[in-house]
Amino acid sequence: MTKATIDAETILKRATPLAHQQAPEIQPFGHLVRMPIALSENACKESVVNLNQLLADTITLRDLYKKHHWQVAGPTFYQLHLLFDKHYDEQNELVDAIAERIQLLGGVSIAMAHDVAEMTLIPRAPKGREEVPVQISRLLHGHEIVLKEARTMARLAAEGGDEGTNDLIVSDVIRRNELQVWFVAEHVVDSARKDP
Ligand SMILES: [Fe+2]
Repeated sequence: MTKATIDAETILKRATPLAHQQAPEIQPFGHLVRMPIALSENACKESVVNLNQLLADTITLRDLYKKHHWQVAGPTFYQLHLLFDKHYDEQNELVDAIAERIQLLGGVSIAMAHDVAEMTLIPRAPKGREEVPVQISRLLHGHEIVLKEARTMARLAAEGGDEGTNDLIVSDVIRRNELQVWFVAEHVVDSARKDP
């Protein structure tokens, strides 16, 4: 009896990764798929648009924290180096929560740096290093942009019946940003100042 044999070349072909594949996107940006979550299409659409703006600004604020974590200088180097990285980690958790909510609403979350740079409302920071009070002012401005839009978006989500988005924005984004503002802002209080 003879066994059917497969030559080595055929075996190797089967084990070779099929790289460099190309195909059209499965969902274009800006288009929603319907998810069975008992929410109107309009409510989902509005939340997805708003959450993508919030995502772009949260990614930018997150990355601003990492930039300052690396580039901070001066006598408060160590505490700020650690604080900036803690806030980076917390913002990174918000980024993931916002992006995944966009997906579960049937939308497409932005992800790449070039798309974020196009969309964000937070002013572009220079490539070089800045002194601590300037770093902190830049962070506080970023937080304020996020907080302002987040409060409006939370109200709109509640009005549209999207309580989940409202809860994410209020309980996670707003509360976390407010707390981070406190921790950062106290570093630029000049308590020794003598008023004339
Ligand atoms: Fe680090």
